[in-house]
Amino acid sequence: MAFLSKILNLSAILMVGFIYFARGDGSAGFTQSKAVYYPNSIQQGTQYGSCEYGAFGATLNGGDVSAASRLYRNGVGCGACYQVLCTNNKYCSTNGVKIVITDSGASDSTDFILSQHAFAGMGQTPDAGLAILALGYVGIQYRRVPCNYPNKNISFYIDKSSNFPYYLAFQIWYHSGDKDITAVQLCETISLTCKLLERSHGATWAVGSPPSGPLSIRMLLSGDNDNDDNDDTWLVSANNIPQNWTAGAIYDSGMQVQI
Ligand SMILES: *[C@@H]1O[C@H](CO)[C@@H](O)[C@H](O)[C@H]1NC(C)=O
Ligand SMILES: *[C@@H]1O[C@H](CO)[C@@H](O)[C@H](O)[C@H]1NC(C)=O
Repeated sequence: MAFLSKILNLSAILMVGFIYFARGDGSAGFTQSKAVYYPNSIQQGTQYGSCEYGAFGATLNGGDVSAASRLYRNGVGCGACYQVLCTNNKYCSTNGVKIVITDSGASDSTDFILSQHAFAGMGQTPDAGLAILALGYVGIQYRRVPCNYPNKNISFYIDKSSNFPYYLAFQIWYHSGDKDITAVQLCETISLTCKLLERSHGATWAVGSPPSGPLSIRMLLSGDNDNDDNDDTWLVSANNIPQNWTAGAIYDSGMQVQI
């Protein structure tokens, strides 16, 4: 009996050691931080985030979304995906959750203010998830990971504030991969003249006096490393935004970033 319990103890120690190792200990590209959650529905994300995704933000990624502080990067971080796992061995799973940034916010030196759904999702079980919610403030590790939207193409949502043909504002939805969209060009498909846009706020790109006719959209994908220009590539939409684009419409680009 004593022998058996020694073996059990030993395997428990090995197990803890293994889990600790599997968590990366900061060595596998993980950053150590803290996270809290905001008191939204446990089922949903938020439609009120700074990225201004609206109703799309409430259902995006099954409600596993987050506000970010420095990772928000003035809106460049909108739509970026991170693997976030909490570090309490008793309750937290080793894979944690994959979240999408939809909002900006900071609290007590946290990197993330997760949706309730994402926060509880870091638990080993639904009960452990409730225990983590009760803790409220947890140590985490996180790393950037590719977003992945099976059966979705990159799509352009024409913002409600748009006013044909004078003002065009849009968001880029379902952007797969782990690169940022750092610039956007709108190109006339007949004259081939292009206009370089700027991010107006959150995830929204906007332009007064937009080019006319069917419009091709070019998106600059940039890697994490700001010093490495070789990382940048232009992605050109396969489908055009139609000549008579309308506010509230969603246009399918006909393509996706291959990961
Ligand atoms: C836009 O134009 C296309 C083709 O010219 C037409 O089929 C479509 O009904 C138009 N849509 C709107 C909203 O006017
Ligand atoms: C994505 O675009 C391709 C090419 O236009 C199209 O065949 C496919 O149906 C689109 N996928 C979805 C989910 O709409």
